[in-house]
Formats: sequence, C-alpha cells, structure tokens
Amino acid sequence: MSVTRRVAIDPVDPDPALIAEAGAVIRRGGLVAFPTETVYGLGANAFDEAAVARIFAAKERAASDPVIVHLAEASELGRVAAGVPPAARALAERFWPGPLTLVLPKQPAIPANVTAGRPTVGIRVPRHPVARAVIRAAGVPVAAPSANRFTRTSATLAEHVLDDLDGRVDLILDAGPAPLGIESTVVAVDDASVRMLRPGAVSAEEIAEVVAPLGIALRSGAVDASEAPGLLKRHYAPRAHLTVFHGPTERAVPAALRHAADELAAGRRVGALLADEDGPVPAGLVVERLGSRADLQAIAHHLFAALRRLDRAGVETIVAPTFGERGLGAALLDRLTRAAEGRVIEV
Ligand code: TXA
Ligand code: MG
Repeated sequence: MSVTRRVAIDPVDPDPALIAEAGAVIRRGGLVAFPTETVYGLGANAFDEAAVARIFAAKERAASDPVIVHLAEASELGRVAAGVPPAARALAERFWPGPLTLVLPKQPAIPANVTAGRPTVGIRVPRHPVARAVIRAAGVPVAAPSANRFTRTSATLAEHVLDDLDGRVDLILDAGPAPLGIESTVVAVDDASVRMLRPGAVSAEEIAEVVAPLGIALRSGAVDASEAPGLLKRHYAPRAHLTVFHGPTERAVPAALRHAADELAAGRRVGALLADEDGPVPAGLVVERLGSRADLQAIAHHLFAALRRLDRAGVETIVAPTFGERGLGAALLDRLTRAAEGRVIEV
C-alpha cells in the first residue's frame, strides 16, 4: 500500500458518502483509521484474517498482543462472544456505548490472530458517532487497536495517525481530537469474577459499583500474566527519556521540578507534563500544561498529544508528577508508568 487518503469528517453528523466509502474499504479487506471517543483506532474486518494481519503489519505490532473487536450495537454481542455472564450484561448495559472493553469467551468465527490465539476476545461498543457509523456501514465487527506504531504513544489526532502510519493505511477519517484521550478500560468477566486488566476511561470505582449488587467484587489484575497480554512495561512511550514522580502532589511536583532543574543545569533540553496549578517552573523548561488537577478528564484528554509535542520540540528528557490513584488518576498512573518504561520514583 502506498497512498493514504485523509479526509475531514464532521464528528457529530458524519457525511454518509464518506462513511459508506469507509465501510466499503473495510469490507474489501482494507484498513481505515477512525476516531473513537477514547483514541483513534485502526480498523479492519474482524472476520477477515488477512485484513487483521495487515493491522499487525502496519503497526509492527507483536502477534502476541490481541486486538479489541468493535460492534455498532450491544445486540450484536452474540456474533463475537460465545457466552455473556450476568456481570458482563450489567456492565454492557451501564457503559455501552462507551469506553469499556469486556473480555469474554470468543466465537469460533473470530480468527486466531485477532485474539493472539486465546480463547477469549475483547469487545467494545464505542460511543463516537463516526466510529459507530463506520462499523454499521462495514456490516461486520471491526477489529481495531489504537492507531499508533506498536509501543508508542496512542493517537488522539488524525495528525498522529499520519505521523505513525502514512502509507500503511488506506483511509484516515479526521474528526478532530478524540474526546477522552485515554483508552478504554479492559475487564475480564466470567460467572464468578470481574478482573481489571487495563485501567482506562471508566474508573474501577464505577465498575465496582455496577457489579456489587451481583455479589461480585472487582479484582485488580489478571489471574496470571497470560490473561493480560499487551500490558508491556514499555508502552505509550515518547522518544525522550521520561521519569515519573509518584506521591502526594505537594511532594511529587517539587521533586519532578528539582529533577528538571538538575537536568537543565547539566545542559540537557528538558520538558515537563504539568497540571495548570503546578509550579513555579525553572527557566528554560519546555512545559506542557494538561489541565487542572480538579479536572482529570482534561488531563487525560491532553496527555498523549502533549507527549508527542514534547518529542517534536526535541527534548531529551521529560519529567511528570502523577495525578493520584482515584478515578482517572489510576489510568493516568498506568500510562505514565509504561511511557516511562517503569522509571517511577516514589516520593
Ligand atoms: O480505547 C480503546 O480500547 C482503543 C480504541 C481504538 O477502541 N483500542 C485500544 O486497543 O486501545 P489496543 O490494541 O491498543 O489495546 C488493546 C488491549 C491489548 O493490548 C490487551 O491488553 C487487551 O486490550 N486485550 C484485548 N483482547 C484481549 C483478550 N482477549 N484478553 C486479554 N486482554 C485483551
Ligand atoms: Mg494501543
């Protein structure tokens, strides 16, 4: 493949002709990048093994990392899941369409490369009007990982998709920034338990609230490493060397800024990911303000784009304090930890 077409599309009221074209590209085995409410996805027909193989090739993604299957409606769950436990039903009713992925036993029709050979499949019904329209037009479930090169920062703008995948995708639907900016929460569900595999846009607290009436407590983490593939230590990584400072804000922010000042004094170009109220900052620091600590949604919305901008600014090293562990804070901590390849200093 050589030419990638990028077209602008209205995020609320997408042009039916463009949607029909995107659906046709997917149906005939091509790749379409489209916005979801979390991040941009790189979509292919989930029932077409060769098309899914093209996703892995375009991203240079490890074959061991399974891909999420996207549906236009929860009522199509039976096409991809072999069984739906009561807790999965309750979660789907509460959070779909939306940023929650349920890992359930798979239907045999799902090719092995979608699930990386596992007996389960990750499924979600996205809420973004463009994503839903594309899936509906394709007429098939759509396998879609985040539309970035493997292990790198997720794409929250069409620009990011082009930077990573130009010449490797047939069509990019550009509907502006992905609203949430952080990926879906992934939970594995069976009759007896619900397990958090990846923190994300739906908080653990919200999920626990839904499954509690069924007598199920949300467990943190997979039963074993094989249940949570794709949770690499290095993921979402910028090119620059990121160090994260985790602890109470009144300690984490000064510690991050002291480290930044030391790096600046050593003659390095340094960037920082900060909340609006974090500071004062040393002279010469390249600062990305993500939003207020009182609005973690804003911080999540800006995180990945800010990492990419710092890379483009040519900084060699980046510092970031964390944003607590409650609500979206847990997902932010997870992404920052992986983007830093585990360089997290507890303060
Ligand atoms: O918000 C999102 O989830 C975005 C948008 C495009 O929907 N997609 C996304 O996909 O983040 P991706 O491929 O970047 O991350 C999918 C992750 C895998 O790395 C893995 O951790 C988990 O979902 N996953 C998928 N299928 C699974 C399965 N069968 N068992 C366990 N984990 C699974
Ligand atoms: Mg990803």
